[in-house]
Amino acid sequence: MVSRVIPVDPFDLVIFGGTGDLARRKILPGLFRRFCAGQMPPSARVIGAARSDLDTQGYRDLVADAIAEFNSDFDHEADQLKGFLDRLEYVAIDAKGQEGWADLQKLLQGTDRIEAYYFSVSPSLFGDLAERLQQWGMADANSRIVVEKPFGRDLQTARTLNATLAKYFDERQIYRIDHYLGKETVQNLMAVRFGNMLFEPLWNSQYVDHIQITVAETVGVGGRGEYYDKSGAMRDMVQNHLMQLLCLIAMEPPARFDPDAVRDEKLKVIRALDPVKPHHIARGQYQAEPCNEAHHPGYRTAVGDPRSRTESFVALKTHISNWRWAGTPFYLRTGKRMAARSSEITVVFKETPHSIFAEDAGRHRNVLSIRLQPNEGITLGVTIKEPGPGGMRLVDVPLDMTFADALGPEGAEQVDAYERLIMDVIRGNQTLFMRGDEVEAAWAWTDPIIQGWEARNDVPKPYDSGSDGPTDAFELMRRDQRQWREVSA
Ligand code: BG6
Repeated sequence: MVSRVIPVDPFDLVIFGGTGDLARRKILPGLFRRFCAGQMPPSARVIGAARSDLDTQGYRDLVADAIAEFNSDFDHEADQLKGFLDRLEYVAIDAKGQEGWADLQKLLQGTDRIEAYYFSVSPSLFGDLAERLQQWGMADANSRIVVEKPFGRDLQTARTLNATLAKYFDERQIYRIDHYLGKETVQNLMAVRFGNMLFEPLWNSQYVDHIQITVAETVGVGGRGEYYDKSGAMRDMVQNHLMQLLCLIAMEPPARFDPDAVRDEKLKVIRALDPVKPHHIARGQYQAEPCNEAHHPGYRTAVGDPRSRTESFVALKTHISNWRWAGTPFYLRTGKRMAARSSEITVVFKETPHSIFAEDAGRHRNVLSIRLQPNEGITLGVTIKEPGPGGMRLVDVPLDMTFADALGPEGAEQVDAYERLIMDVIRGNQTLFMRGDEVEAAWAWTDPIIQGWEARNDVPKPYDSGSDGPTDAFELMRRDQRQWREVSA
């Protein structure tokens, strides 16, 4: 398999927050990989903009360190690194004041190329940055802005943010990142659904018993306790990443793979979601790892609040009220410090209606599981005859396709989500970005759940680090005579 790299047009990418964690961890190492792959044209420039008092050389040193730290397993030549660093500039800038803006304007003046502004800063600065770009004449029809999550913390704040950005930029210029949409395997969901005849006729409540979406992480809140404790799993993961997965698995086939066709269909799914009943949700908070408390403290210690009521785990059941899905429950689950890092979507089909084999009393069901990370691949559970004598006894076996095995190491080579998404920004392709109305609809569904917890002073249930979550989550399934897939790597 030979990967095809199509270079993008010349661009200037300004990264506000260019010295920050996301820029050093993801954005700059990702750009470097695209540079080495030959996708970033030699004339492209990346301009770090932040408060730190650095010069361009200082910034290049900082980026070289970041690449060494966060791209350590990426093979490259020294002159490739030098070539990339030469494309970097730096401007010390004050998002709220006027300092540095004239320098940035001068740098960008007289170039007739794509200008992209990445707002890798706190959302509280989005409005200021957009206003300054406008004031200094940098918000023209050819420019685009990239904004990170969290996009608001509820419907009201998301609306305000959308309205603020809309004062300065058209919707077609705003790229709201949900990095899950940039994952290779998440796009594979669409390929599997709409590139095969096999699944689509069965993809409805007549044949599907239920669907499970699990995004389990082994990491805890780490150094992000302050942010996380104000968010919790519902805001941090469900409102965005899990919601996007749910949309892709449940939406109607869009007429074309283009931004509005895809996003219109996703929006319809979110708008058709039923409100979640309080007894259809389980919330949890991880406890310290026994004998390893110093390294793996419990959630409350990690966030420094012994009374914190923020959830690090949530599991819930919801329904989509439309013709395709009425009657098929969707179970969503995500948590930190779980047994394994594993993101998986499982489509559990209904049982066969009748068994023709006298020796086999059981009913059988097919289970399609799409593993997003790690070991990306697809497994279809099928029923076959148990080998040997003894009549027609049946057994369920997996038809397993791990993409790395099927495509070879090169074909299965993963482009990091950020790399792909940044290149899409330059190409002007919004298909894998969230539209403003989608984000608002997701909050409109999420808000009542969170408000319900607040009104009831709900306290999340403790669960063991390294487990599959609190017992309430299992109870949620048991009541429906179903069970979660085991969380395993
Ligand atoms: C981020 C969340 O958006 O996604 C984090 O803020 C979470 O809390 C992360 O750990 C998970 O992303 P990935 O790509 O590691 O699955």
